[in-house]
Amino acid sequence: MHTVYKTPAVAASSRPTRDLDADLLLIPVFEDDDLADERDLDAASGGEYAAARARGAFSGKPYEQLFTPISGDGWKARRALWVGVGPRNTLTTEQLRRVATIGGLVARQRRFGSIAIVARASLPHPVGRVIQAVAEGAVLANYEGTSYKTSGEPVAWLDRVEIRAAEMDGTAAERGRVLAECTNVARALANEPGNVLTPREFADRAAKLAREASLQVEILDERQIADLKMGMLMGVARGSSEPPRLVVLRYKPKQVAHQAVLGLVGKGITFDTGGISIKPSENMDKMKDDMSGGAAVLCAMMAVARLGAPIQCIGIIPTTENMPGGRAMKPGDILTSAEGKTVEVLNTDAEGRLILGDAMWYARTLGVTHLVDVATLTGACVVALGKTTSGLFGRPASWVEQVRLASERAGDRSWPMPVFDDYKDLLKSDIADFSNTGGRAGGAISAAVFLKEFAGDVPWVHMDIAGTAWAEEAKPYQPKGATGVGVRTLAELALDAGSWVNSR
Ligand code: BES
Ligand code: MN
Ligand code: ZN
Repeated sequence: MHTVYKTPAVAASSRPTRDLDADLLLIPVFEDDDLADERDLDAASGGEYAAARARGAFSGKPYEQLFTPISGDGWKARRALWVGVGPRNTLTTEQLRRVATIGGLVARQRRFGSIAIVARASLPHPVGRVIQAVAEGAVLANYEGTSYKTSGEPVAWLDRVEIRAAEMDGTAAERGRVLAECTNVARALANEPGNVLTPREFADRAAKLAREASLQVEILDERQIADLKMGMLMGVARGSSEPPRLVVLRYKPKQVAHQAVLGLVGKGITFDTGGISIKPSENMDKMKDDMSGGAAVLCAMMAVARLGAPIQCIGIIPTTENMPGGRAMKPGDILTSAEGKTVEVLNTDAEGRLILGDAMWYARTLGVTHLVDVATLTGACVVALGKTTSGLFGRPASWVEQVRLASERAGDRSWPMPVFDDYKDLLKSDIADFSNTGGRAGGAISAAVFLKEFAGDVPWVHMDIAGTAWAEEAKPYQPKGATGVGVRTLAELALDAGSWVNSR
């Protein structure tokens, strides 16, 4: 396999733009922009910027690009990429993150090893947020989809990123660099084929990555899972000759500032065939990404440890294949969860909620006070919200809102959906406490309502990333394939625990 990402050095500085010494200068430009805060830039481009605007070749619309030389006297850089960001008053930090990704990708295409990003004084956001976002964007650009091709051009990498801002904020740059690196690790994991990343391999890699980040790691094997009576996780694993694993990650800050314990649970299906209720073959290959939620939890925990979040966190990843082997669970089977509740399996393809239910119960036994689970859970969520927005479900509403705010800061867009008690009727079973499927109508909600049964009294949010975990087509700011959605949301939630921990 080729190296799939490389983390460049990232520095923040406040030196004059003309002193920035990089192969490429990246300049965000508003739709209506007189460059008052960067007077000399147009002159340095030999007037090419103003000329392009005058003839209508560049208007500053989001992600529009203009490439010019830089030839001013005393300027160190030789080339500039001007990228549109639209009107100043609607500019978001996510747009800035994307602009930085565009800059990084363009630099790599042209085989430039360094880029300097001009975080202009006129940007309408606090300087620390801007620096973090563009650091993230640039590092996210240093990612190549996993490739097993044995021929082709060697990949060009960015090795240095400098962010020029009004104030220099090295902490923000470092936070952005680590969050993006951890996102890239999650993308690399989710892009791995199912025959490479089996549950055991996923657990082994998780253990190695987590130890490198100084997390405490425990991997429970099939015997220990059986001892815990996790009937739902074992039920899904029965159909495969690969044994399941339960990855348990723990983080404790050096100084515990808050009594709360954040529990993160991620779906780790390394391949989802559907089981006996088998999926159609078309697009089944995509189901190698069905462990994206698990990867998000692992990589968020890495970021939490590396950045020293102020709150205790526990990450749980149940991982197994969903296969139709000779001993597979069958429609109509009854499973008993570790919590004791019984479930009638009406569709073996609704496996994610089964493994998550046991993992959520386990998280509670370990003492978590707040729960978030992340999962590529339902096609119905893709129908409801499309491919750019993850679904948020849970209670109380204040906890859902905290997760939503974290996702917005992270640039992982999400939106709340209801989990009213009435929906529980959808899961009625004649012979068990409830079934694992609620039919087509409200399919994302009935899945969430199933999970709610395993959240106990703990504030809980479920994030359905079925639509957002995988990009079907490349965008200027995003390659095809695994997106790493959820990593930065979960990490932001832990890093900013001070903002929610005392308000329930
Ligand atoms: N992993 C799938 C959900 C999924 C579907 C993710 C499409 C990404 C794209 C999940 O395990 C699943 O199969 N869900 C079923 C549930 C149904 C049987 C109740 C679904 O959505 O069809
Ligand atoms: Mn499934
Ligand atoms: Zn699945």
